Amino acid sequence: MGSPIVLGIESSCDETGAGLVRDGQLLGHVVASSMDEHARFGGVVPEIAARAHVHAVRPVIQRALDDAGLRLADIGAVAVTTGPGLAGALQVGLAGAKGIAYALGVPLYGVHHLAGHVAANTLEHGPLPDPCMVLIVSGGHTSLLLVRDLARDPIVHLGDTLDDAAGECFDKVARVFGLPYPGGPAIDRAARTGDPRAVAFPRPLTGSPDHAYDFSFSGLKTAAARWAEAHAGRELPVGDGAASLQEAVADVLTRKAVAACAEHGVGTLVVVGGVAANSRVRALAEERCLAAGIELRVPPLKLCTDNGAMIAAVGDLLVRAGAEPAPLDLSIDPSAPL
Ligand code: KG4
Ligand code: ZN
Repeated sequence: MGSPIVLGIESSCDETGAGLVRDGQLLGHVVASSMDEHARFGGVVPEIAARAHVHAVRPVIQRALDDAGLRLADIGAVAVTTGPGLAGALQVGLAGAKGIAYALGVPLYGVHHLAGHVAANTLEHGPLPDPCMVLIVSGGHTSLLLVRDLARDPIVHLGDTLDDAAGECFDKVARVFGLPYPGGPAIDRAARTGDPRAVAFPRPLTGSPDHAYDFSFSGLKTAAARWAEAHAGRELPVGDGAASLQEAVADVLTRKAVAACAEHGVGTLVVVGGVAANSRVRALAEERCLAAGIELRVPPLKLCTDNGAMIAAVGDLLVRAGAEPAPLDLSIDPSAPL
């Protein structure tokens, strides 16, 4: 008998994800998104997200099982995101996970959303080297983490954003530029038509020894808004603005991440979270890691954004490490620290 098949459920924001993992192998995963329902509000509306999870959670799990050729009874453990995230949204996933764990009599594991993003990488590239540096860049987080054994050791937080997350900066600037929501992919697309040297946007906190591994993106957001305002009455060269903004964000992220690897003697950089899907962030990380002799790992695009497979991946690590399962009265932790 091998390890049990772990069902992972993710519902911290606007994606309902179900993934199935056994022994580090991804057996199947399905994601449903309520993104379109939030588009006209320019951001995720918590109540709409929670209701969408209620509708999506059961079919998403069923489709993941069907795709993997499995039945509900084949599930040997359930892992679920407990935080951080939107309280109402997290509750839906947790309730679903508890129901399945209780009905099947299988262990339940609560998973930190960011640990999920880190573990997504193992599904494509195998176990993470110990230690490794992790750059988490999403709509809610921009952090540099020193990771050892994900199932056993606490994650060491080296730095964080002092204000906006990188994805948030993309999303907000995209709105100012008149691009659709979500802004990150829209900026990425628009940037293809522009010149990254057209606008000299700032590189916040790059010369600050006290904040060597911290980030700040709200000044960059303001600079981009000022630049757009300066074009009032004329056509905005959106491609140039997008390419220059993307260049500034990618420059700051990769410069700090590679410096953190060098200072801590770490040979592997893992870039995860929704913004890891950004083409310039990926290209610049590749270039700088190659130059510094650092191995770079970026999950495949479909596993960069929120999904259930990454939560199942952490559950699988916990099961195999012999971790204690959670009680069935497990609670959500919307503002969970790392
Ligand atoms: O990890 P994620 O799916 O959700 C969390 O925030 O946890 O990340 C979503 C973020 C959004 O801000 C979105 O605009 C950004 O990732 N994003 C991108 C790209 N694809 C998604 N940002 C830049 N370029 C992209 N290609
Ligand atoms: Zn996420």
